[in-house]
Amino acid sequence: MSTALVDPDAVSEVEETTAETGIQSFLVTFIIRRFNPEVDEEPRWVDYDVEVYSTDRVLDALHKIKWEVDGSLTFRRSCAHGICGSDAMRINGRNRLACKTLIKDLDISKPIYVEALKGLPLEKDLVVDMEPFFAAYREVKPFLIADSKPEPGKERIQSVVERERFDDTTKCILCAACTSSCPVFWTDGQYFGPAAIVNAHRFIFDSRDDAGDVRMDILNDKEGVWRCRTTFNCTEACPRGIEVTKAIAEVKQAVLRGR
Ligand code: SF4
Ligand code: FES
Repeated sequence: MSTALVDPDAVSEVEETTAETGIQSFLVTFIIRRFNPEVDEEPRWVDYDVEVYSTDRVLDALHKIKWEVDGSLTFRRSCAHGICGSDAMRINGRNRLACKTLIKDLDISKPIYVEALKGLPLEKDLVVDMEPFFAAYREVKPFLIADSKPEPGKERIQSVVERERFDDTTKCILCAACTSSCPVFWTDGQYFGPAAIVNAHRFIFDSRDDAGDVRMDILNDKEGVWRCRTTFNCTEACPRGIEVTKAIAEVKQAVLRGR
């Protein structure tokens, strides 16, 4: 099925706008893997021709399709600026945030394929059930656990060096791009996955926290860090540039030798 977003009668208007702004528009084909559990037995690919500007993001194109062609197209998004982590999806076979993927960075001479993340249950169109992902996240106790209280009116003091130790892993936005790009996670639904380990790392190496051993015990399990095969898919997928594989390696080292 092909759905053109550009009304031929409106083309002259588009060209006029283009001439006024000096920004060139392009007609790009998006092929989206659609699935409506109420009517479809299997997902199906549907193509849409969309007029976009090189400065647009894939999220803008999805909005155009949803708002101008088919309101039933379902996907998650919130901030539209790479902060909330809700619009991770597979774009041309790579896990990315739709709001951070510029059209100009894709080869628009070919169709752009968009589908839901792999390895998590598909709910509808580009939306997956994130509960297995968040269940693993909750298991590693992703919050500060301190045995003592700070002195009244005082903060828990930490040096710059101590803070830097876990700085990289504080950047996680829980988008699941890493976990859902991991072949071990695809084939073994029990593995905690990279994001849970990243968030354990964030507290294991925090000098103010006293529950690192508890988290390392949890991750020393058969479903824990040892399932990681160091394929680096997670690091390549992370839209925040976190060195995910390195963080996992540091947790492995800590489990073996202590922090
Ligand atoms: S580590 Fe990166 S890819 Fe993984 S959930 Fe966090 S932000 Fe997303
Ligand atoms: S919509 Fe929030 S990260 Fe993309």
